[in-house]
Amino acid sequence: MRPVLIRGLTAAAAASLITGAGIFAATSASAAAGCRVDYSANSWSTGFTGTVNVTNLGDPISGGWRVTWAFPGNQQITQGWSATITQSGANVTATNPSWSASLPTNGSANFGFNANYSGTNTNPATFSLNGVACTGSTGPTTPPTTPPTTPPTTPPTTPPTTPPTNPPGSKVDNPYAGAKGYVNPEWKAKADAEPGGSRVSNNPTAVWLDRIAAINGTSDSSSNGAMGLRDHLDAAVAQGAGYIQLVIYNLPGRDCAALASNGELGPNDLPKYKTDYIDPIAAIQADAKYRSLRIINVIEIDSLPNLITNTSGQAGGTATCDTMKANGGYVQGVGYALNKLGALANTYNYVDAAHHGWIGWDSNFNPTADIMLAAAQASGSVNNVTGFITNTANYSALREPFVQPTTQVGGQSVRQSKWVDWNQYTDELTFAQAFRTKLVSIGFNSNIGMLIDTSRNGWGGSARPTAASTSTVIDTFVNESRIDRRIHAGNWCNQSGAGLGERPTAAPAAGIDAYVWVKPPGESDGSSSLIPNDEGKGFDRMCDPTYTGNARNGNSLSGALPNAPISGAWFSAQFRQLMANAYPAL
Ligand code: BGC
Repeated sequence: MRPVLIRGLTAAAAASLITGAGIFAATSASAAAGCRVDYSANSWSTGFTGTVNVTNLGDPISGGWRVTWAFPGNQQITQGWSATITQSGANVTATNPSWSASLPTNGSANFGFNANYSGTNTNPATFSLNGVACTGSTGPTTPPTTPPTTPPTTPPTTPPTTPPTNPPGSKVDNPYAGAKGYVNPEWKAKADAEPGGSRVSNNPTAVWLDRIAAINGTSDSSSNGAMGLRDHLDAAVAQGAGYIQLVIYNLPGRDCAALASNGELGPNDLPKYKTDYIDPIAAIQADAKYRSLRIINVIEIDSLPNLITNTSGQAGGTATCDTMKANGGYVQGVGYALNKLGALANTYNYVDAAHHGWIGWDSNFNPTADIMLAAAQASGSVNNVTGFITNTANYSALREPFVQPTTQVGGQSVRQSKWVDWNQYTDELTFAQAFRTKLVSIGFNSNIGMLIDTSRNGWGGSARPTAASTSTVIDTFVNESRIDRRIHAGNWCNQSGAGLGERPTAAPAAGIDAYVWVKPPGESDGSSSLIPNDEGKGFDRMCDPTYTGNARNGNSLSGALPNAPISGAWFSAQFRQLMANAYPAL
């Protein structure tokens, strides 16, 4: 990815605190009343996440709803979701998203926003629904016993000295430590069927729940396999595994900047994502028979970073990414997943955070961290996040011993080379550790840990440099010295020359919970030409070896292997290459 300047969210400087919550309803039994608003502000020193729940207590509304209020202070909204929110001076108007134009009697709508403020974050005094003040009701069926009617007089302005701790008696700090990983028998069978595959087939790989049908399992196994979530959890228990890794990957408008992994849900399908996808997964994970397993959920690959770098006005920005930013589907979807899947004592959420070749530039790094915080806050608490994963299904080298950001050649920095292109990072380990530090600094718990997907970032074999180049020409030096042998660091599909990377390992380096194989080696990233399928997978030319690229990969060749099947399907030639180029070697 090229560095792209975007206006980011406001960096929150401290851990979150609840500073205000209010129920705006009178207790009168008058039938003339129209609405009730529940408002809460989850504040830190310079900003807050507001959530608004409006309940229509009057006649049904069908032609759209509008909630208005005035902020008493200098609160300024920077981003909203699940409603279109505009602010003029202190006055705010939130109108329904297209998928939620009606509000039946007693029906409610939920939306939220992030905002800046200074001084005191006093809650708005009144709200209106379609111009009618929400000051009365026919009486809530279960009235709050002690509704807070005024905001706290002295909201905390400094971060708490001790970070929030995990729920009592529950999660361990690093779920990988001292635990054996679940080996997916379906992946193992495919690996074992390849010559020499049994050398690696006993490694734990993640199970991708990449569509609703994957929860119960599918009879057609055109990609991924037929076992459902319960089958995998039962098999993990039978294996005596300590942990299982699942990928939660079905957001509305999925893969908004590419085509190879578009999913089944349209941009406005957030409600369906919640009820038909996340809720059933959460219900299965909650089954008491899985209580001894550490269930690791890798949350929504590429989604939040796409909202930072791939919206309009940026090199390669797309209309779908614009839509998903505007309608809040990604932030709210990730928030919902974190909330539901983080609730259990034995579940662990790791949110996807792209890789150094995507968000390593400061102009992407900081806003990406901010949107991670927004999603965590949308979930209700940063405690729902155990950590983050980088390099998922990507190829960035773990270490670049000869090309560090400080390396100078002939009086020039390697950052000036075409390959590095001013990125602040050149390898994944340094990047993941720095991103962890950044996330903690803006309000995540200090014990969060990172995962790095090392399934395909080995870059061994004869093309691997064993020493720094002696060239004094910057581009030549970098190209001859770098471990990552891709044509361009923005290339991502079935990369030619790649090898298996570090085998899955717990706690391999400071701040890193584990090296993991989340992308199962041998499963394709996308088809090299259009292959009709019923999984919503498109054809992305970045998977076509003849494609000469676009703005996102510096108009370079794609570097993809030929004859690839659709994403998720077994790609024998790729698996063989990954074994041949493994580093460490097999
Ligand atoms: C695909 C998924 C697949 C996963 C793992 C993704 O690129 O979209 O369907 O499960 O890779 O192979």
